[in-house]
Amino acid sequence: MFEIRHLVLVDAIDRHGTLKRAAQELHLSPSALSHQLKQLESTLGIPVFHRSGGQLHFTALGRELCEAARTILGQVKEIEERVDTYKTTQADRYIHGYSATETQRLYDQAHSIADFIHWDSHWESGAHILEAGCGVGAQTQTIARQNPTCTFVGVDLSQKSLEVAAELVKDLKLSNVELQREDLTRLSFPRHHFDHVFVCFVLEHVPAPRDILRELWRVLRPGGTITVVEGDHGSTYFHPDSAYARQVVAAQVELQAQNGGDANIGRQLYPLLREVGFAEVGVSPRQIYVDDSKPALVQGFTRDTFTAMIRGIAEEVYAKKLLPEHEFQRGIRDLERTAAGGGTFCYTFFKGVAIKPKEET
Ligand SMILES: C[S@@+](CC[C@H](N)C(=O)[O-])C[C@H]1O[C@@H](n2cnc3c(N)ncnc32)[C@H](O)[C@@H]1O
Repeated sequence: MFEIRHLVLVDAIDRHGTLKRAAQELHLSPSALSHQLKQLESTLGIPVFHRSGGQLHFTALGRELCEAARTILGQVKEIEERVDTYKTTQADRYIHGYSATETQRLYDQAHSIADFIHWDSHWESGAHILEAGCGVGAQTQTIARQNPTCTFVGVDLSQKSLEVAAELVKDLKLSNVELQREDLTRLSFPRHHFDHVFVCFVLEHVPAPRDILRELWRVLRPGGTITVVEGDHGSTYFHPDSAYARQVVAAQVELQAQNGGDANIGRQLYPLLREVGFAEVGVSPRQIYVDDSKPALVQGFTRDTFTAMIRGIAEEVYAKKLLPEHEFQRGIRDLERTAAGGGTFCYTFFKGVAIKPKEET
């Protein structure tokens, strides 16, 4: 039987009228295209074209094939679009969602922890950097402003988030940032395209972090670096201690696991990066310790980042019957108490930096 690629050839020749222009569209040489057409004709056992003076004209059956090709390729395109929509919906399963509240939480989180995470986020002048999973641009604003001579390409699966990020980039007049929709499991960039890669709070949400790290490895040049920042909910402790508060944090860990992620991934950065082949892996814990002598962190981190994140999963916790509503609400109240007078709150982020060796293994 002939294959879909043969229909693509026939359709392109029909649309362009010449073999040369059809070959250009298909990124083939004219002789490769001509060879594939002959393959098609020999598979079918009939001529699809009359050839005269370098011109191609459909035979009667060739014309029928061409019309069938248009219908079939239209259906294939429709399926491709549906797959694309399905994948976006999968991205929408991302546990924290893409609401305006979550956008604000990501900005609050980024602002409150910027000094802890980014005091050493510096790359050499002129470097071309991929920010993988940039979301609404919450980290982009810090790294792009801090490295004005570098160029950043922020990518994310969520078109909605990219639109919010684009607004931010415009408002802040960040001329060194480009944004584009990409799936981190199969990036469209050629190998060795970027000098460095930066990824923050993404691996904890994906089912196969190694696959994503391998894809990031592919687009990174040998000698380039990867920087990964992730949280680890197992590092959460607070005063006053509360079994209810611990329980709501555990519910978040469970939900994230049910959605294919791992909320305790921070502690695994070292082995993950090593497994994928990165060298000189250095992981540093960035502990946030908050008490009421630091009102900006009490508000920005304990309340607006951490407690807001847990509050955001309420509906899903009830729907999945992970906790009864009164216990969940008690846990939230107890988390809020850690942000009141005399309360303290600790959480540790992990930042890993590693190099792709010059000699690929
Ligand atoms: C918690 S957000 C972090 C966003 C940003 N890095 C930050 O720190 O604010 C995680 C992001 O990863 C994106 N993401 C998850 N899986 C992805 C994939 N396979 N390809 C591209 N982006 C993905 C989600 O769409 C989401 O925007």
